[in-house]
Amino acid sequence: QIVRLEDYQPSDFLIDRVELDVRLHPTETRVTATLVMRPNPEGRSDAPLVLDGEEMNLKAVSLNGRTLTAEEFEASPQSLTIAQAPRQPFTLTVETELNPTANTKLMGLYRSSGNYCTQCEAEGFRRITYFLDRPDVLSVYNTRIEADRDDVPVLLGNGNRIESGSIDGSDRHYAVWHDPHPKPSYLFALVGGRLGRVSKTFTTMSGREVELAIYVEPGKEDRADYALDALERSMRWDEKIFGREYDLDVFNIVAVSDFNMGAMENKGLNIFNDKYVLASPETATDTDYAHIEAIIAHEYFHNWTGNRVTCRDWFQLCLKEGLTVFRDQEFSSDERSRPVHRIAEVKTLRARQFLEDSSPLAHPVRPTQYREINNFYTATVYEKGAEIVRMLKTIIGDDDFRRGMDLYFERCDGTAAAVEDFLRAFADVTGRDLSHFARWYEQSGTPRVKVKGHYDPDARTYRLDLAQSTPPTPGQAKKEAMAIPVALGLVAHDGSAMSASCDRVDQRGVFLFDKPEDSITFTGVASLPVPSLFRGFSAPVKLSLDLPNEELLVLLRHDTDSFNRWQAAQSVAMRLLVYLSTGVEVADEDIDAFSAALCSFTDRNAQDDPAFAALVVTLPSEADVAQEIGQDVDPDAIHRARSEMRRRIGQGCAKHLQRFYETLTVSGPYSPDAASAGRRALRNASLDLLAAADPDTGEALAVRQLESASNMTDRLASLSVLTTLPGAVREEAIARFGDRYRNEPLVLDKWFTLQAAIPEDGTLERVKALMQHPAFSIANPNRVRSLIGSFAMLNQVQFNRADGAGYRFLASIVLRADELNPQLAARLLTAFSTWRMMESTRRSHAEQVLRSIAQKPNLSRDVGDIVSRSLEDG
Ligand code: ARG
Ligand code: ZN
Repeated sequence: QIVRLEDYQPSDFLIDRVELDVRLHPTETRVTATLVMRPNPEGRSDAPLVLDGEEMNLKAVSLNGRTLTAEEFEASPQSLTIAQAPRQPFTLTVETELNPTANTKLMGLYRSSGNYCTQCEAEGFRRITYFLDRPDVLSVYNTRIEADRDDVPVLLGNGNRIESGSIDGSDRHYAVWHDPHPKPSYLFALVGGRLGRVSKTFTTMSGREVELAIYVEPGKEDRADYALDALERSMRWDEKIFGREYDLDVFNIVAVSDFNMGAMENKGLNIFNDKYVLASPETATDTDYAHIEAIIAHEYFHNWTGNRVTCRDWFQLCLKEGLTVFRDQEFSSDERSRPVHRIAEVKTLRARQFLEDSSPLAHPVRPTQYREINNFYTATVYEKGAEIVRMLKTIIGDDDFRRGMDLYFERCDGTAAAVEDFLRAFADVTGRDLSHFARWYEQSGTPRVKVKGHYDPDARTYRLDLAQSTPPTPGQAKKEAMAIPVALGLVAHDGSAMSASCDRVDQRGVFLFDKPEDSITFTGVASLPVPSLFRGFSAPVKLSLDLPNEELLVLLRHDTDSFNRWQAAQSVAMRLLVYLSTGVEVADEDIDAFSAALCSFTDRNAQDDPAFAALVVTLPSEADVAQEIGQDVDPDAIHRARSEMRRRIGQGCAKHLQRFYETLTVSGPYSPDAASAGRRALRNASLDLLAAADPDTGEALAVRQLESASNMTDRLASLSVLTTLPGAVREEAIARFGDRYRNEPLVLDKWFTLQAAIPEDGTLERVKALMQHPAFSIANPNRVRSLIGSFAMLNQVQFNRADGAGYRFLASIVLRADELNPQLAARLLTAFSTWRMMESTRRSHAEQVLRSIAQKPNLSRDVGDIVSRSLEDG
């Protein structure tokens, strides 16, 4: 059944306090929940009390200390109903029994490598006890955890530990945790296990001492140092930039190896996918380090945006996720290079969110209905949600943005808020009407902005005519104009400063384009300019502006905006790739001119900003090109076109690339800092292009690098280059790498991914064979995503095989995974979201496969929802 935003009703009952007593046992864990409740003055006065449950096994229930008889309540695995609940405060005690070992969904209480842990967002608490499992019911929790002392030496809960000890005459011990901050059930967590620990003391800006600790598999403590350092930097940054201080005596993080998502912001007890905690030079790449830093920050920042101010209902998910992604992006930008980070953000936004927005799964940043909320933890809610916050800041300016945030925290602290509360804070501090801007939360689809420029040399004016439109998306046939901030400027052909001005553009260089069509005119324009639009990617839109390649290359050379310099190179590359893929003739000189521009640009930037130069020489991916073409896509043609371009650029720039490869070495012990990472990035991008131009030389260089590399970044990059060069050398290298890291699951994940992405005919068989590898397990989300997920999401040509075998394979895995872990299965299934843009043979194979999934009995709600939306008429 479908949940709708418009049906929101406050809860009829509230739970002020929760006393949990959890006796951990591998198969028979006992949970006694004592709920101090009262009717909600804002709820209905005659309503029954209905508590949520899922797969619950009820043992006993009592009301105000008296055991209820069978006639006084109704219980099923899904709910517990008391028709005649008291109209004054009361205490309800519920005892349930769970089997954490059998919990393969990884929601609620489960075991990972023998340790006990929980995941409650969005609706997992109801798998622990019957509860009002909704984010607008806030309670103070006391949690007593009891377990076998030897098997489970570490016992962690939310908040501060107030008591612990052993139970006389037994081999069990216990700990009691108290969290003074009222919170919704989705932020509850507990952990029990045998764990190693690293820790450090942090002094907050007001001088309070906080004990920070990270718990990992024993023996891997040193791999948590970077995460601990990132946590400390995040805490300092939130104090400095947003004035937000931490509010408990301890902050604990636990890394687990079976986890559906990246991590979870449980109050005072974050639980992480270990891939986003553990790092050593030998096992993690520069990218891994960057992700760890970003996710540690993200979860920490949730303490204010998510926990202190939480969500009224799950439709408001972007209120915490979009805002928190924005905050972690700002943190990473401040800690690293802002332009480089912005480009990385936009690359993911386009690859994931634009794709989603043009697919059958498109939905608004604030959805209006859902069948399964877990399917809405999407790129749209997270990434486009973050872009909305960024646009707001661009429109109102830094100072008002900070004042608005302060007001939002002040007003909403301790409450379950809605998107309207967020926007109201900014409307109130600026006196602006943000109702038009609010459409960004409601309207799905990526707006397209068409622009044409007209120069009048006599009047020395330059006019831009803009038009916007948004394509129809599921449930939204008609679209309105959006309020689009366009950060822009004019660039002279020779790069000299332009003194043009326009009264429609504000001091920050931003024009707010909020009608279907508009024109703005610059005066004092001394020569024909090249327009630089959406600087810094000021809005999540697609720009149509047909600048000739020469003018785009002017921007690459002279634009003051780094993002648009990168964008200019990408636009030329994309145009050439689309032509080559679709049989439009491309003159050799066009490719040569582009390659020459890349050489000289990279050459000028290689020493000062190698990370940026590496981004500039990296061509759009095959998936990017497919998205740009948008219909009747032939992945084989795209693959050929991109290989050809890589070869041509590699040949054209060979001298420069060789020099980068030789000179950009990093001396001294490995450090994951952005500057060193940037040198490695350009050096490895050079290696990749050199190998495309000359496979023999490339192979020799890659083999030498693979053998001599002192860190995983360089080792994996060389292995990745080798995977593009079929033959015995490659197979030997792959085998040796697999053997070397046979006891390192997180490294084997990278090894699975590289092999699953090989764009050759034998890859499907290779993937099937790797499923027999001792390290592979269909029950572990990291393993499944790195092998199967990568095959489906990264390998355009082999997943989209013309004979449909890639689609049938994915379907079979989705169905198997669905029996264990519906969230994981549903995620994998989203790889089909591109099926409608394929050429007709592939399209009909995909449709057939989707229809056969849809017909299977007993599909989970997660998979049923994705498959039916994927098939709805677009
Ligand atoms: N709130 C978490 C984060 O973004 C995500 C948890 C989502 N979990 C889920 N089962 N849907 O940091
Ligand atoms: Zn989050």
